Amino acid sequence: MRAVAVAKPAGDPELMRLPVPEPGPGEVLIKVVAAGLNPLDWKLADRARSGETAEPAVYPLIYGVDFAGKVAALGEGVTRFAEGDAVFGQPKRVPVGAYGTYAEYVIAAEDGVLAVAPENLPLPLAAALPTAGQTALSLLEAAGLGEGQTLLLVGAAGGVGSFVTQLAAARDVKVIAVTRGVGERVMGELGAAETVDAKSGPPVDDLRETYPDGVDALIDLASDAEQFAEYAALVADGGVAVSTVHSAEPEALARRGVEGVNFVIAPSAGLLARLAAEVAAGRATVQLDAQVPLADAPDAVARSRAGKSRGKTVILV
Ligand SMILES: NC(=O)c1ccc[n+]([C@@H]2O[C@H](COP(=O)([O-])OP(=O)(O)OC[C@H]3O[C@@H](n4cnc5c(N)ncnc54)[C@H](OP(=O)(O)O)[C@@H]3O)[C@@H](O)[C@H]2O)c1
Repeated sequence: MRAVAVAKPAGDPELMRLPVPEPGPGEVLIKVVAAGLNPLDWKLADRARSGETAEPAVYPLIYGVDFAGKVAALGEGVTRFAEGDAVFGQPKRVPVGAYGTYAEYVIAAEDGVLAVAPENLPLPLAAALPTAGQTALSLLEAAGLGEGQTLLLVGAAGGVGSFVTQLAAARDVKVIAVTRGVGERVMGELGAAETVDAKSGPPVDDLRETYPDGVDALIDLASDAEQFAEYAALVADGGVAVSTVHSAEPEALARRGVEGVNFVIAPSAGLLARLAAEVAAGRATVQLDAQVPLADAPDAVARSRAGKSRGKTVILV
């Protein structure tokens, strides 16, 4: 099969031919229609290269953790799925690189992060959902936000941020979107009440003036520890400040009465199914940045590393 992988730890991702994997007991072989691109794809490869992860890795290391496609074959004992089912989700994760989704076929566990794709959503769009969508839904729960509360969302225009903005707005949460150059019109269409530019650094003084009583929650998808602390200073007593890039210092925040969270997604079939329901109900749509053929995936990965993400990129396999 065709796949985009790194041949050895120091290599760059490239298109290559690899054997089609075979489903074992309880596993499903999926013919991939599209893979969603996430920063996690290149972060996993980087961590494997530097030995930063405890998880074993194999080479060639195939990129990708999100997919949508059709069930092509069933391993022994599989009952939840049938051949031809349209599904989306995430494959087995360990060893890293063995089950990447930038490939024509991928293996997922029947009882893993696998669900029937949302009805009426083309599979290339469903491929954009698993990591960013599950993260967005869980983040909102971690922040414990409800109607009328205020959310400061940093990195709001990217893959996760565009889902958080929509899902929060659908819950009547007031979203203050912090972006670097993505304006009021684009973010407003997603449901943001206000859009603030951070091109010249965190606009905390302006925000403090507009929100003298502070915000109820911060969800920060981008800042390092120093900038995160600046934003977190805007969270009111009793509020919560969440980082997806491990920038929160929970002990320091607790001294101010703010709950600090370094969020780590716990993907599951249940979360995927709830996400599919949100999409089916129109509470979130996929904001597509680009659709690229598999051969162009290495360039798309390079663009993701360089930033400037506006919604999601999907790789058509
Ligand atoms: N912990 C977890 O379980 C978990 C789960 C999912 C994702 N993540 C991580 O969360 C991060 C976001 O994921 P994603 O898929 O949304 O990434 P993405 O699609 O690349 O989006 C990131 C967005 O943040 C913006 N940004 C970067 N620096 C910024 C700053 N200083 N101020 C304001 N905006 C800024 C980027 O804009 P520009 O580059 O255009 O300026 C881009 O729009 C990634 O690092 C990802 O690995 C963690």
